[in-house]
Amino acid sequence: MTRIAGRTLGERAIATSPDIPLFDLRLEEEDLQAVREALESGWLTMGPRIEQFESAYAEFLGCSHAIALSNCTAALHLAYLAVGVGPGDEVVVPSMSFAATSNAVLYCGGTPVFAEIVGREDLGIDVADVADRITDRTKAVCAMHYAGYPAAVDRLRELCDARGIALVEDAAHSPSAELDGRKLGTWGAAGCFSFFSNKVLSVGEGGLLATDDDAVAERVKSLRSHGMTSGSWDRHRGHAETYDIVDLGFNYRMDEPRAALLLSRMRRVDDDIERRRRIVRGYRERLKGVERLTIPYSDDDVDRSSCYVMPTLLDESVDRREFRQGLSARGIQTSILYPAIHEFSEYRKRYPDVSLPRTEDAARTQVTLPLFPHMTDEQLDRVTEAVAELL
Ligand SMILES: Cc1ncc(COP(=O)(O)O)c(C=O)c1O
Repeated sequence: MTRIAGRTLGERAIATSPDIPLFDLRLEEEDLQAVREALESGWLTMGPRIEQFESAYAEFLGCSHAIALSNCTAALHLAYLAVGVGPGDEVVVPSMSFAATSNAVLYCGGTPVFAEIVGREDLGIDVADVADRITDRTKAVCAMHYAGYPAAVDRLRELCDARGIALVEDAAHSPSAELDGRKLGTWGAAGCFSFFSNKVLSVGEGGLLATDDDAVAERVKSLRSHGMTSGSWDRHRGHAETYDIVDLGFNYRMDEPRAALLLSRMRRVDDDIERRRRIVRGYRERLKGVERLTIPYSDDDVDRSSCYVMPTLLDESVDRREFRQGLSARGIQTSILYPAIHEFSEYRKRYPDVSLPRTEDAARTQVTLPLFPHMTDEQLDRVTEAVAELL
């Protein structure tokens, strides 16, 4: 349900929407105003608001370049291309992620090599397992910051540097989290962010690639717009008369209304994350003694996470479908983040022999509970009481 400045606009998106949805989006009047101004400006494709958003986001992350894109899948695709992934190359990726992380390797003609998670307490990629999977053909390693909790990018960076391999971060869940005072998404050659509808910083569809590497930035800027030597905005302002095409690129551009909405919403993102953390702490406190349930990560980890979702893991003895149906019958929506990528039909067809016991265990037992910044204590009580009752 979308609410604007306390009002509900239209009907719920789905007639049978639950009382307590998995996520909920709130926009403020200032967001609407920003989009309205963009719409009224008469310039809708990439223009001044994109430039403004990119500078603001680069400053926010503390990196040299932030390049707005149509979505995070595009960011991953361009990140892999920019670090040189091509046919015959391998990229070590987590299987506990959304399929975009590995699909983008396939778009480049490369081969995704799936690595294990640490375990039930930490669903991030396991550094030792990554090290074991590196071969002469490995071009890059991708770390995904699951639910906004930092993957071990400090150690991965050392590993990658020692082996002459690029580190790419899938930071789709972590727009403003840090490890050792450095923002996630700025540890490797490229950090890829998502502004998809249910993300911590969302605009519907949108993405961004962050980098400190000038050559990566230049290639990504070129590839996002068909390898053209000038954009429409340059030509509109008379900065370029015509253009050449110097690379085989794509249309991965973002537009002005989205940049305006992002600029407006990003002013509140750290407050939103602080509210998410408060709710996650509330979950942890309330679910502490519940049997047959594991809450991954520690209380301290919560302070370092952007708390995108609230993951839990059931014991093998619990029937997950029944458990989820029980919550659904009480008006509580849940999800599974994630089914293991290597177990999807398309991937089984390509790579039938992949076996990752820890990832498969997590994928089989994971349940994601509702989490959004304005979730009330009453809603939290209802979810946690229902979980305890069903277990
Ligand atoms: C971990 C992860 N990577 C990549 C993506 C792809 O993001 P987008 O939908 O912006 O392409 C998502 C979004 O669902 C995601 O969760």
